[in-house]
Amino acid sequence: MESHKAQAANTKLATWVNEVATLCQPKAIYWCDGSQQEYERLCEELVQAGTFIKLNEALRPGCFLARSDPRDVARVEDRTFICSQRQADAGPTNNWEDPAAMRNRLNGLFKGCMAGRTMYVIPFSMGPLGSDIAQIGVQITDSPYVVVSMRIMARIGSRVLDLLDDNKFIRCLHSIGYPLSGGKQDVPWPCDPENRYIVHFPETLEVSSYGSGYGGNALLGKKCVALRIASVMARDEGWMAEHMMIVGVEDPQGNKTYVAGAFPSACGKTNLAMLIPPKGFEGWKVWTVGDDIAWIKPAADGRLHAINPEAGFFGVAPGTSMDSNPAAMQTMVKNTIFTNVALTDDGDVWWEGMSKDKPAHLIDWRGNDWTPASTTPAAHPNARFTAPAGQCPSIDPEWENPKGVPISAFLFGGRLSTTFPLVYQSRDWAHGVYMGATLGSEATAAADNQAAIRRDPMAMLPFCGYNMGDYWKHWLDMEGKVKNLPKIFRVNWFRKSPNGKWLWPGFGQNMRVLQWVVKRVNGQAPGQETVFGTVPHYEDINWNGLAYDQATFNELMAVDKSNSRREFEDQAKMFNEMGGALPPQLEKIRQEMLASLA
Ligand code: OXD
Ligand code: MN
Repeated sequence: MESHKAQAANTKLATWVNEVATLCQPKAIYWCDGSQQEYERLCEELVQAGTFIKLNEALRPGCFLARSDPRDVARVEDRTFICSQRQADAGPTNNWEDPAAMRNRLNGLFKGCMAGRTMYVIPFSMGPLGSDIAQIGVQITDSPYVVVSMRIMARIGSRVLDLLDDNKFIRCLHSIGYPLSGGKQDVPWPCDPENRYIVHFPETLEVSSYGSGYGGNALLGKKCVALRIASVMARDEGWMAEHMMIVGVEDPQGNKTYVAGAFPSACGKTNLAMLIPPKGFEGWKVWTVGDDIAWIKPAADGRLHAINPEAGFFGVAPGTSMDSNPAAMQTMVKNTIFTNVALTDDGDVWWEGMSKDKPAHLIDWRGNDWTPASTTPAAHPNARFTAPAGQCPSIDPEWENPKGVPISAFLFGGRLSTTFPLVYQSRDWAHGVYMGATLGSEATAAADNQAAIRRDPMAMLPFCGYNMGDYWKHWLDMEGKVKNLPKIFRVNWFRKSPNGKWLWPGFGQNMRVLQWVVKRVNGQAPGQETVFGTVPHYEDINWNGLAYDQATFNELMAVDKSNSRREFEDQAKMFNEMGGALPPQLEKIRQEMLASLA
């Protein structure tokens, strides 16, 4: 059923929709109601258009496969802009252009860009409907693939329109940039890779995205709204929009402690969000609240409460298996949209790492025959599954609580083969902010065997919608706004011995670290001070069910003075880049860290 309420009324939303239609010249305007029937009808139309392949109903009920244009397979950071009025407000880590100049250019691109297509209007809520941590946006798009994906990733449709405050909603305009004018034929994945722009106007709460239909470029609720725009709203309103997963760790007595964690890509964030406790942790349970983004607000109880603003997972498929992440595998058994994975002969999906044995024949992500002898991957490395979060077997019963869940700890984790211990706790809040600000993962190994670290502060480098230095200040300032702040920890699952072997056995065993974190925040575990921060003794970790000797643990936790000095010195590069926006407190902590090695 179409909602004509806003369309008919003399509202700001209706005015905006009409303006966009005048600019983009679609052949029709459609207001999405968010219903199941609408979803099914659009999926069927996508099958007819050749965008979707319906998967085997017996093996993957309600599932579809899409193959993108090979030039449109990932977020495009070099085409992503923060167009604040002042360049200094975007800061040195974001692309910036003058907003008026950018609007001018975008107007040229959007002019007539929806010719021959339907323009869909999608009211969406990031966060549970009516939560005072949630925010409402409206995305206009000419991509039905985006509509059905947004229905999984956010709460959309008429029920959102009913809650919309006409004076404050986030305006998201999206076009794939492939007008069907002049007799141009449609293609299964229309896009305009030569002219992509992902543009944010933080002061006016607007996003304009042109030329891409893929993931974070096109599903504008996710990275564009829930991180870049929301980070600015959070700064102005005194809350936090973070690139964090959220889990609830339940002990055998039923006490639940919520932990949120930021990790740069390829650090096992999704696996941690859906961790199954290993042998030795009978009675323990890890509940999933979110896998990617957390919106966190000071609450009346003096604590920070967090929601997952999303309603679905947009996860990387390759590497996901019943071994690495059974909960993710079970989440995508039905009602899932797969993009750029391989198709099996019986109408199911496959990707590298899903099983040890490779199928004898597949159709790869480009639509070509594939066999194990092929030299190219069957699935694109950034192939994705888009699945409803409610289908996750470990989804927390509280995941849609409009009040959010109280956060007791923040984790920051990078991928670092040397120098960094498995886990350490900050001395205080400011030291924890420093630990997050200096977060990073190894890029290339340098000649002297000390790998260069690619800094990714709070895992927010591509997602902070304003000056990174001001963002750190905002983090520091939270100390004055919240009585009981979460404790802050750094973790590193990736340390190696000098002969190149992993020192830590990996994902399921990370439960042992989570348990120590939970005990620390509940005042139940001692620790010892090191240069980095507070670390566990060997006997503070629960080793039930795992043979892990003290000598290896000592190696895993060792603090090497010369490596540490090099690390603290290296951090200066990024700090210096921030210029006058660098909070002096962070540089002071860095100096203290160096001095403590003297
Ligand atoms: C994501 C990302 O896709 O962080 O979640 O890039
Ligand atoms: Mn992410």
